[in-house]
Amino acid sequence: MKRMAAALVLVLSPMMLSAGEPATDTAWVDQSRQLAMQLGGQLKAELTNAIAEGGPMAAINVCYLRAPEIAAQLSQASGARVGRTALRVRNPSNAPDDLERTVLEQFAADLGSGPIDRPLEAVFEIRRGDAVERRYMRAIPTDALCLTCHGKTIAPELAAAIARDYPKDQATGFEQGQLRGAFSVVWPAPSLPPAP
Ligand code: HEC
Repeated sequence: MKRMAAALVLVLSPMMLSAGEPATDTAWVDQSRQLAMQLGGQLKAELTNAIAEGGPMAAINVCYLRAPEIAAQLSQASGARVGRTALRVRNPSNAPDDLERTVLEQFAADLGSGPIDRPLEAVFEIRRGDAVERRYMRAIPTDALCLTCHGKTIAPELAAAIARDYPKDQATGFEQGQLRGAFSVVWPAPSLPPAP
């Protein structure tokens, strides 16, 4: 049975911001969604091209070198921190923080319990002192293309290259449709006007 997964807006903080009310300013959510989709779209296009031109060995560099480059370009252009994370990471520097881990666990449970007909997203506004940090996450399901390097059977030459570059790799053994990770967009807390 298909289930709808609505974008979930959570407000976490010692001091709740608009608890229970819909966020008034959601332009940042749209912008975050665009950033995540740009990173995902560009990576997938480059991965597909690299595999077609040079095979999976050549494509390792796309996930390895290009992902951080594209993320850095998008971060610089937007002012947000744009990146990827996962519960089981290949690169330890992509490890989730506490909030990301909680959301990833929820995404994994949602994806594990049947097909979902729209992207899984989570949105947070977190009070930090007298400012608000805004965060957006979007699930990355594993598709057939990803199995070459993240699946259960990986070609020996490729597995050796991955083991060499990522001795602590945890990001194999995935099946199509399972949660591979998430895009994560963090808008640093802007200063709010002083409370009256
Ligand atoms: C050619 C091999 C290859 C393919 C194909 C590939 N990846 Fe990766 N993936 C990697 C490598 C290498 C890294 C580590 C990148 C880094 O150092 O940041 C990685 C990292 C990631 C990460 C960041 C979290 C982590 O584990 O460090 C995500 C998320 C990810 N891949 C998702 C995908 C998805 C989704 C696909 C399919 C659309 C895919 N990958 C296809 C090799 C690959």
